Amino acid sequence: MASVDVAELRQKYTAAGQGQVFTFYDSLSSAEQADLVKQLALFDPTRINELAKEALHPTPAADSGPAVLEPLPESATASILDSDASSIAGWYKAGLELIAKNKVGVVLMAGGQGTRLGSSAPKGCYDIGLPSSKSLFQIQAERILKIQQLAGANAVVPWYIMTSGPTRGPTEAFFVENNYFGLEKANILFFEQGVLPCISNEGKILLEGKGKVAVAPDGNGGIYQAMIGSGVLADLKKRGIEHVHAYCVDNCLVRVADPVFLGFAASKDVDIATKVVRKRNATESVGLILQKNGRPDVVEYSEIDAATAEAQDPNHPGVLKFRAANIVNHYYSLRFLETIPQWARDLPHHVARKKIPYADLESGETVKPSTPNGIKLEQFVFDVFPRLALDKFACLEVRREDEFSPLKNGRGTTDDNPDTSKRDILLQGRRWLEAAGANVTVSDDARSDVSAADTGIEVPPLVSYGGEGLEGFKGKSIVAPALLEG
Ligand code: UD1
Repeated sequence: MASVDVAELRQKYTAAGQGQVFTFYDSLSSAEQADLVKQLALFDPTRINELAKEALHPTPAADSGPAVLEPLPESATASILDSDASSIAGWYKAGLELIAKNKVGVVLMAGGQGTRLGSSAPKGCYDIGLPSSKSLFQIQAERILKIQQLAGANAVVPWYIMTSGPTRGPTEAFFVENNYFGLEKANILFFEQGVLPCISNEGKILLEGKGKVAVAPDGNGGIYQAMIGSGVLADLKKRGIEHVHAYCVDNCLVRVADPVFLGFAASKDVDIATKVVRKRNATESVGLILQKNGRPDVVEYSEIDAATAEAQDPNHPGVLKFRAANIVNHYYSLRFLETIPQWARDLPHHVARKKIPYADLESGETVKPSTPNGIKLEQFVFDVFPRLALDKFACLEVRREDEFSPLKNGRGTTDDNPDTSKRDILLQGRRWLEAAGANVTVSDDARSDVSAADTGIEVPPLVSYGGEGLEGFKGKSIVAPALLEG
């Protein structure tokens, strides 16, 4: 980093009304001073003030009346549940050809802090308790290996892994320890999303300690600026990639570089496509993909009103009108990603009210508040959708039991926890084997406490990516629970 003029920096923060960040500066060691200066030099306090002001006191929307929300039109949607087998097979073949021609790259969003899960390690390192003890990262890596094999000997699917300040070091170390799970190191690129200072309810930048600003990752929408700043876009272009699959680390069932999805999106020649599953019920914590004022959009679960969440589909009694649950599983055309510099800075910042530990400015002691004392500012990855016309956006409904089982909560909760992740992988393996003609029995079925997971089989990705290649098990008997060997 170029040397920073400390007096100038101090003046800049003071002029912006944020001089409190220098309260303890003179009492710090020179190493601590250097760290604080390095951190402060990353931000423009005037811009932070603008973001904080807009977040804490939003400008009322121009009086254009209430937003008109409608499900997406049929022309922009398709469903795996009711598409004919030949369409799905056609998309699969087209997608696999793109992979074979090295036209596909994958971007993973793994910069979240996993606060709800309660683990301090990056989520991708988490062992959900499978018989193989594989972590989420390993499962995803093996799916990439397998899809490369299915596409052909020379196929390479580069994997771009977005981390953040707190997750970068442990994520990279985990990959090194595990020898990149068999993938070529040269085809895995780690990059880091930005952070933003945490702000008090009064709009002041908070210190976490005497010599450290409290910061948080800038949301999964930080992916766009990070792709430019860290050279991901340049690398995609250099490799001749034209189609990108982006997804979240927490979904153990994610079909990484799914040929069906890639083939579907490429055949529609859209700029963004997104997978959805059917929302479980009106209160499930998922965003909804829909059209808002005639543009594709997402209404987040924290922002939806009850009447919209509970509205029924007039054509399907008992079915929610807005049911396209966002699973943050996207396709992007490269030509669209090339436009990032035109709009990334303008994506809105959403407010998350949090309990943020802070240094008391009188005593310097760190205080852990018991009620929310400030905000974190986050961009959302889907806020770019409304930039597109409906004919450049497509949505593919997929089966939840085959493609979506996120790890959000810790053990002992009802949903979206390590036990449900493990169960869903094992039950999927069993369904695949039974569809291939195997006879699966349960070892302990006399026991009254056999869990659903105990009736399943772990089929490693290197054996089958999506249920294919299991013909050899026809007529075979397999006792659950088990780990299938290759
Ligand atoms: C997200 C979606 C929600 C969707 C749900 C499905 C957003 C804003 N909301 O909600 O619409 O229905 O997933 O599971 O996307 N991440 C980063 N950097 C960050 C923050 C998050 O990379 O700064 C990554 C996480 O590592 C994770 C993903 O984004 O892979 C989702 O983050 P999370 O905070 O779990 O999102 P939800 O609130 O569950």
